[in-house]
Amino acid sequence: MKYQVFDTYGQMCRRAANLISAQIILKEDCVLGLATGSTPLGIYKILVSWYEKADLDFAKVRTVNLDEYCGIAADDPQSYHYFMQKHLFSKVNIKAANAHMPNGLAADIQAECKRYDALIASLGGIDIQLLGIGHNGHIGFNEPADVFSKDTTYVKLSEDTIRSNARFFKAVSDIPRSAITMGMQSIMCSRKIILAANGKDKEDIIHKAMEGPITPEVPASILQLHPDVSVLFSKE
Ligand code: PGA
Repeated sequence: MKYQVFDTYGQMCRRAANLISAQIILKEDCVLGLATGSTPLGIYKILVSWYEKADLDFAKVRTVNLDEYCGIAADDPQSYHYFMQKHLFSKVNIKAANAHMPNGLAADIQAECKRYDALIASLGGIDIQLLGIGHNGHIGFNEPADVFSKDTTYVKLSEDTIRSNARFFKAVSDIPRSAITMGMQSIMCSRKIILAANGKDKEDIIHKAMEGPITPEVPASILQLHPDVSVLFSKE
């Protein structure tokens, strides 16, 4: 794993945006694996600004997102569909048909998980996957568990994750308790991975993930087995 520490969040985001834009320039129809949460916000802002300057073109880019809450409609402001529209998709020239996300309202969640894995395979896998990391070491919504989850799967969110997500919701009762998340196979088969994190409170888990035992109790630790991971961290 390649570990880079930056003084500021802005510098960290710029580096991540550089890696993503290099991928788009090298392969105009690349498959980007995208993440939600607070960490990628600055990264998406920079990508949008480069698109506006005509330095980046999303016309042929395909995307697959890591996860989506169950039980929330795509047009609900708390959904990850909404997040992606607001912060990236509506601001660049990506085709709607090329921007893929799990459907958290699917009537048959198991079938939806299978569909999502088949879709990622049909796109030829992911060229570059952007990941955040939870304080409990989760990537996507792959929560600490007894085994790594291979396939896209339905997950019940951990108490730790629900507490951490509370900042985005008005009432605790509004916080979704379950989600669909991409599994470790699609993440680990990505040709490149960026793990981005900021804030001193993420420093411990980053080090556990990079240097600790490889265990499903720290889901991000599996990334130690991947040949091309850039860990980008800023203390602020
Ligand atoms: P954050 O979330 O970017 O909002 O810190 C990361 C995560 O939980 O995966």
